[in-house]
Amino acid sequence: MILNASGCLDALEAPEVARALDVFVTKTVTPQPREGNRPVRIAETEAGMLNSIGLENPGIDGLLREKLPRLAELGVPLWVSVGGFAAADYAQLCAALADRPEVSAIELNLSCPNVEEAPESAAELVAAARPQTRKTLYAKLSPAATDLPETARAVQAAGADGLSLVNTIRGLALDDETLQPRLGHELGGYSGPALKPIALAAVYQCYRATGLPIVGMGGIATGRDALDFLAAGASSIALGTVLFGDPDAPGRVRRELAEELASRGLSGPEAATGLAHGAKPASVA
Ligand SMILES: Cc1cc2nc3c(=O)[nH]c(=O)nc-3n(C[C@H](O)[C@H](O)[C@H](O)COP(=O)(O)O)c2cc1C
Repeated sequence: MILNASGCLDALEAPEVARALDVFVTKTVTPQPREGNRPVRIAETEAGMLNSIGLENPGIDGLLREKLPRLAELGVPLWVSVGGFAAADYAQLCAALADRPEVSAIELNLSCPNVEEAPESAAELVAAARPQTRKTLYAKLSPAATDLPETARAVQAAGADGLSLVNTIRGLALDDETLQPRLGHELGGYSGPALKPIALAAVYQCYRATGLPIVGMGGIATGRDALDFLAAGASSIALGTVLFGDPDAPGRVRRELAEELASRGLSGPEAATGLAHGAKPASVA
């Protein structure tokens, strides 16, 4: 499956791009509306992009009332990404989405580098969300966790059905002339090509640690990138930064991946998942 990475595509602005995906993932929604961080919020750097959007969103009520009915008309399965500042926020957001038939899964954003971290651990946030809904729950983790496989095992034990790996990693860019931070928020989330080896390592380790389905993302721009993520252990991939420069990326990456698989005699994406591990690890059925 090919998804967009949360926050990297406005499906209502670009419905034809969303329709080229297998799943559309919303930008992270919080309990209350948020205006996001002050500008400048995007900075290009040598090998990637820095953003400090700060979870600008209409709040859960705005999403449910205005956006969700229009997103459902796209005819693409919808995942809603939710984020908050305490376990109670995640519980509230999942409860609000539990009875919405338009929503096929919920992605718990446990890892935005542009907002204050919740005081609870990732596993505690999943544990708060789990009883509120029977929908599939994906836990989106930061590659900066001290012991990522351990975090992955903990969110699995707390009830996560899958992992989204990875979110951006904190970065800084300075203005050439003034040597001041280029982003209004100073630090931002770093994404794009430079993130790929970091993200691949995260997918590789968490596949071994949990055997959970993984949506891999971080610098994917070609079919070969997608194949690498599958081999490391992802069962789906998501396109993020690439969409800003190439709205045709979903169709192109899909074609390129099919060619990569065929040229290696692989029958489909499932046949590629986990290949980098040689024999399948014990955690994988
Ligand atoms: C402009 C921008 C906005 C983003 N907003 C969100 C967000 O709202 N929620 C989230 O979980 N991740 C967000 N992300 C992170 C992406 O979903 C993805 O994890 C990250 O960019 C790595 O993938 P990429 O290198 O292909 O972009 C954002 C990334 C960018 C560049």
